[in-house]
Amino acid sequence: MVSSPRRRAVGRWRMVEPLRSRFPDVHFYNPDLTEVQQDVELGSGSRVGSFSLIHAGARIGERCTIGSHCNICTCQIGDRVSIQTGCHITRGVVIEHDVFVGPGVITLNDKTMTGKELRGPIVRAGARIGGGSVLLPGVEIGRAAIVGAGSVVTKSVAASATVAGNPARELPAHPAAGLSLLVPPDLMPPTPGSGDPSAQDLQTDREPE
Ligand SMILES: CC(C)(COP(=O)(O)OP(=O)(O)OC[C@H]1O[C@@H](n2cnc3c(N)ncnc32)[C@H](O)[C@@H]1OP(=O)(O)O)[C@@H](O)C(=O)NCCC(=O)NCCS
Repeated sequence: MVSSPRRRAVGRWRMVEPLRSRFPDVHFYNPDLTEVQQDVELGSGSRVGSFSLIHAGARIGERCTIGSHCNICTCQIGDRVSIQTGCHITRGVVIEHDVFVGPGVITLNDKTMTGKELRGPIVRAGARIGGGSVLLPGVEIGRAAIVGAGSVVTKSVAASATVAGNPARELPAHPAAGLSLLVPPDLMPPTPGSGDPSAQDLQTDREPE
């Protein structure tokens, strides 16, 4: 049955309005293409791209970026964390403040794939995970460490270390490793809806990459 324009409008309103009223300080690029389940905390100034799903119980801090096509399970994410397009953040993951997660990163939590013991990876503050990396269950990525693109991280990574490859091995530390990622406020991306003219594009169709 083809629905009438009025029916479509009501359906759209039902999908869009709850997200905006539940999270008035969060910018959804396309709220009718985003699902945030019940009992989710999503901090103010955060922004969420299209086709992303945030599962019940997820705790996400302030001024975070969740790109498009992300699947964020029941996990804890600190403030100013950037999760780029197409990431799978599995249940039980802990991501501390100021972490960068490149596009297409997958975190895993079930080593034996039997569902018996779930151990989500922990990513300490200021760490950066290169695009396409896989973090195996239970690994810890140390504070301000760098994981190279496409790495498969099978063992914990020391603070300020740089690792890459499959399995990820330590490289000479990149100059950026160990630097605090605590970004000065004037370098933070503008907050959508703040009135900052440079935030204009964030309010239209330019989604986080
Ligand atoms: C890990 C990284 C930071 C290393 O940078 P770097 O210190 O400048 O390293 P170099 O380019 O000098 O490479 C050093 C060595 O490590 C190897 N290497 C670098 N990155 C690698 C990677 N991701 N996987 C495997 N090996 C890698 C290089 O081939 C080189 O090996 P060699 O000495 O045998 O020739 C960088 O290569 C990287 O992967 N950055 C992540 C980019 C990304 O995902 N961004 C996401 C947002 S777009």
